[in-house]
Amino acid sequence: MTKFEEISPSDFFYRNKEIAGFENPAKACYTIVREFLENSLDACELGGFLPEIEIYMKSVSEEEKRLRIKVIDNGIGVPHDKIPLAFGKILYSSKYVLRQHRGIFGLGGKMAVLYSQITTNSPFRVISATPNNGYISFYELKIDILRNEPIILKRSKIINQNGWHGLIIECEFVGDYLLSKKKIFEYLFQTSIAVPYAKIYYQDYEGNALLFKRKTDKMPPIPEETLLHPRGVDLEMLKRLIKINPSLSLNRFLAKNFQRIGQKAAEEVLKLANIEFEKPVSKLSEEELTRLYNVMKSYPFKRPSADSLSPLGESFAIGIKETFNPEFLSYDMREPSSFEGHPFIVETAIAYGGDIPIPEQNEINLFRFANKIPLIYDSYNDVSMKVIKSINWNVYKLN
Ligand SMILES: Nc1ncnc2c1ncn2[C@@H]1O[C@H](COP(=O)(O)OP(=O)(O)O)[C@@H](O)[C@H]1O
Ligand SMILES: [Mg+2]
Repeated sequence: MTKFEEISPSDFFYRNKEIAGFENPAKACYTIVREFLENSLDACELGGFLPEIEIYMKSVSEEEKRLRIKVIDNGIGVPHDKIPLAFGKILYSSKYVLRQHRGIFGLGGKMAVLYSQITTNSPFRVISATPNNGYISFYELKIDILRNEPIILKRSKIINQNGWHGLIIECEFVGDYLLSKKKIFEYLFQTSIAVPYAKIYYQDYEGNALLFKRKTDKMPPIPEETLLHPRGVDLEMLKRLIKINPSLSLNRFLAKNFQRIGQKAAEEVLKLANIEFEKPVSKLSEEELTRLYNVMKSYPFKRPSADSLSPLGESFAIGIKETFNPEFLSYDMREPSSFEGHPFIVETAIAYGGDIPIPEQNEINLFRFANKIPLIYDSYNDVSMKVIKSINWNVYKLN
């Protein structure tokens, strides 16, 4: 007889670790640094605090490749009651809103602590304070993988004497530091170019200490939370929104939940879909829902607003200038554009001379970022690289 069973999200990710970048001890080590750093940067930027982040990589046992990482930031922290879920429940996140940040799945940081637990069976620690709060929270946690729930081993509050805010996370894991070290350094270096308003300090047990100084005090504005664009929505999402607002009439539902739909557009959409304006959303039949969805996909709405985006802007040029001191630098930010209801902005910079390292065989240094995150792997197969190589640079007196 075939046996069917259901698994929890934690269990699913435990069994499919490679999806989240934990396929081997070297990659895991790199991914953990990355996820913690990205959470920290998000937390600082959301609060408008100039990021000050420290990362310590210690060795617990060289023989067993057992490492301990500690990351300290000065961000908005996590409220006392939310700490266990934020770190102990997969797919729990404060970032399921339409606004650009680095996390989105409620997964990264938790995969790191989940991996820590399955390789060492030791708990992880979180210390945190939110701004203007009288106390600091301290937790020791594990994850119940089968039930996708946090297990609280220790919890306490102490008085916050100096008004500190931020978060400290500490965990032990099995990782191959020697094989991942170079990638980690490169990642930090490129991050410091894209986020020149951050101060990042990294120290490992071999005696390496890297300090990426803050190069500017100006931070890009905090992106705004925006509504979904009607074209960016799929049927499942539409059903979810209906469940949340069951009693709204259709025209109000559309105007309330989507950008670029006012009263007039709502009426036009409903006319095209041949649905009554005043009908409560919960009364929609499957066919009506499909018709509505199809009209939402094809109606000529205005482009999505770019307010939810957080382009690097001037910071990008500052990062490059301060890092490489180039002879020539040109920076460009394109007009916002969109794909299927999702806005994006392309930013590019080109520079030569100064302290830019000359790559092997006169190749080109191509740094790619998506969402302010350096893309470290595989730049040579990138379409930008192909374009750069197809340009006849001699015309510009460059070779
Ligand atoms: N350093 C941090 N400071 C403040 N909040 C954090 C920090 N790290 C994680 N969090 C909170 O925990 C949640 C879960 O983090 P994570 O598992 O990495 O998922 P994601 O980043 O995709 O939301 C975040 O949404 C955020 O609310
Ligand atoms: Mg994250």
